[in-house]
Order: sequence, then C-alpha cells, then structure tokens
Amino acid sequence: MSIDRNIALEAIRHMQDRQSVRNFADKPIPQEDLDEILKAALAAATAGNLQPVTIIVERDPERNKQLGVLCTNQPFIGKAPVNLIFLLDWHKLSVYAKERKAPFNCHDSFMHFATGLEDVMCVAQSAETAAHLLGIGSCFIGTTMHSGAEIAKMYNLPPKTYPMCLLTMGYAKDLPAKRRKLEHEYMVFEGKYPQLDAEDLTRAYDLKYEGIHLPFPTRPEPREAMIEKIRRGLLTTYTPEETEQIIEEALERGYITEVQRRFAYHYHAVDNYNKGGHILEMMQEQDLFPTRILKEGKIEL
Ligand SMILES: Cc1cc2nc3c(=O)[nH]c(=O)nc-3n(C[C@H](O)[C@H](O)[C@H](O)COP(=O)(O)O)c2cc1C
Repeated sequence: MSIDRNIALEAIRHMQDRQSVRNFADKPIPQEDLDEILKAALAAATAGNLQPVTIIVERDPERNKQLGVLCTNQPFIGKAPVNLIFLLDWHKLSVYAKERKAPFNCHDSFMHFATGLEDVMCVAQSAETAAHLLGIGSCFIGTTMHSGAEIAKMYNLPPKTYPMCLLTMGYAKDLPAKRRKLEHEYMVFEGKYPQLDAEDLTRAYDLKYEGIHLPFPTRPEPREAMIEKIRRGLLTTYTPEETEQIIEEALERGYITEVQRRFAYHYHAVDNYNKGGHILEMMQEQDLFPTRILKEGKIEL
C-alpha cells in the first residue's frame, strides 16, 4: 500500500522535525489516538517474527508520579497523561514453547537479549513516530532499567520480563530549543568508513555541544562534591597526574565541558559499571540471564 507522495513527504518532513518533549500540557490523549499509536507500534519488525515485547499503558496520575521517581527522579514523567512501558518479554513465548514441546532458552542467551532489545526499540520507536505524527510529543526514558525490580513489583511482572524503556507522552506545553545533532557528514558514510582525525571529530562535536557547559557551584561544599565526582570518573581513564591537570584546567575555566559532564558527571564513568552490575542482578532476579554463553559445550554465566 502506498500513499500520495506529497502526503508522504509531509509526514517525513514532520519526522525530520521531531524532538523530545518533556513539558506536557494538562490535556488527555484521546483513546482513539492512543489506539492508533499502539497499532502502529505493534506492526514493527521483529527478529525471527518472535515479538518478545509487551507494552504497559499507564494513565493513573499517582502511578505516573511513582514512575517518575523510579526512573531516577524525573518529575516530568509524573505530569504526562500517558506513559508507555516497553518490556522485553520472553515469558509469553516460554509458556507457549513448553506447551508445544519446543526447547526454550531465549531468556538465557546474549543473542536473544540483543535481538529482543532491538525488537523493543523498534516497537517503541514506531509508537514515538506515530504519536509525533498525531501532534503528541514524547520522550524516551531509559532509566526504567535502573528500577527494574520495583517496576516488576508495581506491575506484577512475571519472570523473564524486564522494563527496558518508557515513552512518556502528552501534548507539548512548550518546546525547548532543538538539541543540535552531529552533522550529517559525520553520521552517514557511503562505501567505507572514512579516515577521521581527532581534529575533525573534535570540531564536529564542539559544534554539536557549542555553548553547553556546567559551571562549578560557588558554594564550597557542592563545589568540592562536584570536583570529587569528576575526579573519580577521570581516574577510570587518566593517570592521577593527568586527572589533576584536567581538573585544574576546568577550575580555571570555571566549568566542565558537555562531554566531561556526560562522561564524568551525569553518565558517570564509575556509576556506569556499578549500575550496570545492579541492572544485571535485577534481570537475573527476573530470570533473565543475558550474559550466559556456551564455553566448551557448557553454559557459563
Ligand atoms: C534509549 C533512550 C533513553 C533516553 N532516556 C532519557 C531519560 O531518561 N531522560 C530524558 O530526559 N531523556 C532521555 N532520552 C532522550 C534524549 O535525551 C534525547 O533524545 C537527546 O537528548 C536528543 O534530543 P532530541 O530527542 O530532542 O533530539 C532518551 C533517549 C533514548 C533514545
């Protein structure tokens, strides 16, 4: 089935103009629009035609607030009229496979974890696009993963399921300035990967992050806390001498750059290891073992 080219191009232009929305008007999403969005989401491609996905629809304001807290304290999630939680779900297939006498290990292998996560994101992305075309703004939230155990309890999730992401959605109250993206020439290569030197890439990312930085607080206590946090992050990659030098330069400037904030402060280098381990433990509690592999014929964790 194809649609009129002009209508298609209009829809594509609209997609090219998307941005995340985090400030929602107090206006409900009509049921018929939500139904269309969910139908589009469920038509997404799926590896092996397995569909290891479930969507939980949440509209209750109190529970939405709770989700905002659980997703690393992001209060705007609590103000959305609808939140969609996307589960990686091997439960339904595992039950069916047993009934029909097929072996089942999808919850227990990295390969299926990877393709399952890809499936979840295809479904979630289709929902985002459909919502956007209907004038409904949204923002992906990846931090459901940080509270998998609590969300599993909240929704009575069966084993072999895990909340991989959430789409918080509603009508935009106002739109912030668009976040700049990396230039097309650094994102799309034809034929082969070109030689990009550090200078090229630095220029490209500096342009993307131009004007974004995080100043040091003036009050001594939070200032010291920030310096300590950055120090711990930098030490995962640099020697102690290099670390102190980098901190000194930042203090002289009065701020850390966006890439330093991303990796040494917000998505903290040490936390990434710690939280990753915690998420894996919560997945195991849910009977998901994405790190299991076969070694010399034996399954290893
Ligand atoms: C997997 C994923 C997880 C994300 N998690 C969050 C989140 O927890 N909180 C948030 O405010 N934005 C989140 N985002 C949105 C990104 O911050 C946003 O897409 C990015 O800054 C680019 O901005 P834009 O979407 O407006 O182009 C997430 C996006 C993706 C794809």
